[in-house]
Amino acid sequence: MPTDPSRRPGVETLCIHFGEDREERHGAAAPPLYQCSTFTYPDCEQFVGRTGPECDRYDYTRVCNPTTELLECKIAELECGESARAFGSGMAAISAAVLSCLKSGDHVVCIDTVYGPTRRLLSDYLPRLGIETTYVRGTDPSHFEAALRPQTRLIYLESPSSLLFELQDLGAVAKLARERGITTICDNSNATPLYQNPLALGVDLVVHSATKYLSGHSDLVAGFVAGSRQRLTALSSREGELLGGILDPFASWLLLRGLRTLSVRLERHQKNAMALARLLESDPRVARVLYSGLENHPQAALARRQMRGHSGMLSFELRQGSREATFAVVDALNLFGIAVSWGGYESLAIPVEVTDPADGRKKWLIRLSVGLESVEDLKADLYQALSRALAS
Ligand SMILES: Cc1ncc(COP(=O)(O)O)c(C=O)c1O
Repeated sequence: MPTDPSRRPGVETLCIHFGEDREERHGAAAPPLYQCSTFTYPDCEQFVGRTGPECDRYDYTRVCNPTTELLECKIAELECGESARAFGSGMAAISAAVLSCLKSGDHVVCIDTVYGPTRRLLSDYLPRLGIETTYVRGTDPSHFEAALRPQTRLIYLESPSSLLFELQDLGAVAKLARERGITTICDNSNATPLYQNPLALGVDLVVHSATKYLSGHSDLVAGFVAGSRQRLTALSSREGELLGGILDPFASWLLLRGLRTLSVRLERHQKNAMALARLLESDPRVARVLYSGLENHPQAALARRQMRGHSGMLSFELRQGSREATFAVVDALNLFGIAVSWGGYESLAIPVEVTDPADGRKKWLIRLSVGLESVEDLKADLYQALSRALAS
């Protein structure tokens, strides 16, 4: 079949090959790990010229490291950005991105189902710098518009959002923000760049907890910011180098390894989560299932427009929605570990108390991070846990 040389390679191919030059590394199938803090110079002239525009040498790992640089260039490409910067955690990336576009006196609009520590950063930390935040549900672009003030400089998005998996119309919100000179940031940890590209929809910066699907093995903590070269150059030299929360080369190397299998892992996460969502949906003991991939998700049409697939993350509410019943079901699970975090190869379950934006009431939900185990085993485990815990 003739191939079009201008065609962008598929994301599966990019995860594996983008930015890699095997000849440069003696044909080694895996990239080398530059586990070093500093880089030497052959003479004093080159050393004193090291900050000049012509110098293309590596200098110090907090500034740039070849292993981390390869990873950053893959993430930038996957996110349809010009540049990306790796950080030592998702929160380090989020705080760097947020701080990069705010100053004292500014105002932020954020979705109210945002990841808890991001909310604490905005609500507990930023007021010390004179920055205020307004929270909106965000399922309709008009929610953002209604909350804007003349001082609004940032709209912070997370789609699908934490625990409730509500979506925001990324293209519409980015447009209304851009028309007013407001920066938009979107946490894309759930969908990953394989299933959603906020930058291509007009969002200014994408942030990630790479601790989740991008690494996929529950063995490291990492984060990214991706966007235009101009924004990332400023962010790297200020929040990256000065706040210094950058990623260690070994974690970068492990992340490069995780990325190679991201596409096949995600396919399986999605398949397993969809099967469990359908099982739960048809179970009379379950009141509702929150999964962005379900046809009856309240924003299914938006999901089809801006997402290419869905992760392994879902929540469900029991009909008997008490704290006791919720805990009993989670405790009765055998294959699902009880732990925070998500996006790893292994299935996890936690009970979470959330405020339902539909009626403002507190509800107990069970959040699942559906792993890569046999789907029949996961279905059997969920079914036996519901039966054992709810038998009266
Ligand atoms: C949606 C989301 N964003 C960001 C983070 C923070 O990432 P990290 O734990 O890598 O700092 C998390 C962590 O759970 C998360 O769930």
